[in-house]
Amino acid sequence: METNTQHDLSALLSRYESVFVLTDEQVANSCLPVFSNQPSMANAKKLVLPAGEQHKNIQTVQRIWDWLQAEHATRHSVLINLGGGVICDMGGFAAATYMRGMHFINIPTTLLAMVDAGQGGKTGIDYGTPVIKNGIGVFAEADATIYEPQLLQSLPAEQILSGYAEMLKHGLLQGEQAFYELLEQDLREVSKPAFGEKIRQSVAFKMAIVEQDPTDKGLRQILNLGHTVGHAIEALLLDESKVESRKSKAESQQPIAKPHGYCVMYGLVAEAYLSHMLCGLDASVVSRLSRFMLENYGAAPITCKDHDALIELMQHDKKNKEQGTITCTLLKSIGQPVTGQSVTPQQIREALEYLCNL
Ligand SMILES: NC(=O)c1ccc[n+]([C@@H]2O[C@H](COP(=O)([O-])OP(=O)(O)OC[C@H]3O[C@@H](n4cnc5c(N)ncnc54)[C@H](O)[C@@H]3O)[C@@H](O)[C@H]2O)c1
Ligand SMILES: [Zn+2]
Repeated sequence: METNTQHDLSALLSRYESVFVLTDEQVANSCLPVFSNQPSMANAKKLVLPAGEQHKNIQTVQRIWDWLQAEHATRHSVLINLGGGVICDMGGFAAATYMRGMHFINIPTTLLAMVDAGQGGKTGIDYGTPVIKNGIGVFAEADATIYEPQLLQSLPAEQILSGYAEMLKHGLLQGEQAFYELLEQDLREVSKPAFGEKIRQSVAFKMAIVEQDPTDKGLRQILNLGHTVGHAIEALLLDESKVESRKSKAESQQPIAKPHGYCVMYGLVAEAYLSHMLCGLDASVVSRLSRFMLENYGAAPITCKDHDALIELMQHDKKNKEQGTITCTLLKSIGQPVTGQSVTPQQIREALEYLCNL
């Protein structure tokens, strides 16, 4: 595994028999032109897919396999995944299974994919009835991940914030300096070259964890911070019919599904509250994080009426150890996570009440 900048791209690509580029419609418009001076990339075969999580499925993977076969890709070819987490996850899976595994390189174009999905070896697609997120996949590491912060210039603010929540999560796990620097950061500067160093630090932190536990058996579970509550909120918002607060006035409102990182931000606040209650995390961390959430992400779009449904979703999480309790990663202090913490539904309810009253 290695990381590269664009300057090394030609040398890197010269190792392969042929080059294939997978991207989505939005990224093809905003990011492909950045590589027009890279002949090996500009002349590569390209497949442009429709954008969005709803296309991260087996039908699209089949389309990718068909394309690779029709264009005579071999195990010595390379597939470049140019896009956000959807393209990196799905392209990685298609490459890892094509002819029992062809090479692939990720060029993440969202902040979330840069700091999270673009590296770490988890590939896959959503699958099943009802659909299970990342229900099918394999561990497969990209040959390289290339970071180009200027690609973020076209990324909508909402997507920047989504990735930023994962960076904050890394900061909370890493230590006080990393965390408080992120809280002070001017978010308008995130696509500027100087911010590249912060992205690099965030990735390095994640990779240090992944290298010690590549297949998610122990230490890597610290990266679930914020995700027990976050995933439940994400799932609830995706199924509006279950959101109680919407039932009465649904017609007049916009869709409320939120990008993954927004739900992680709400989850971080709720789990910081639980960490204060159960593991002694300083109350000032909970209030700083809550203020950052309110100022940048707004209040969580749920009410007390949604708590039962959220708790039910958390109780079905496959990571739970004991029946009836919910397993979370919590913090004793910034930089001191504890995994496998059993939390009762009543304690979760209290944390959700805190979140909803903000
Ligand atoms: N493998 C992992 O470890 C891991 C970790 C976290 C998340 N994920 C996965 O990542 C996915 C979410 O990733 P995401 O948030 O990047 O979503 P995404 O890939 O859907 O991208 C979000 C939107 O931004 C657009 N976009 C991407 N880059 C752009 C750019 N530079 N300029 C303008 N528009 C751009 C895309 O077309 C898309 O519409 C989920 O499927 C999640 O499961 C995987
Ligand atoms: Zn996440």
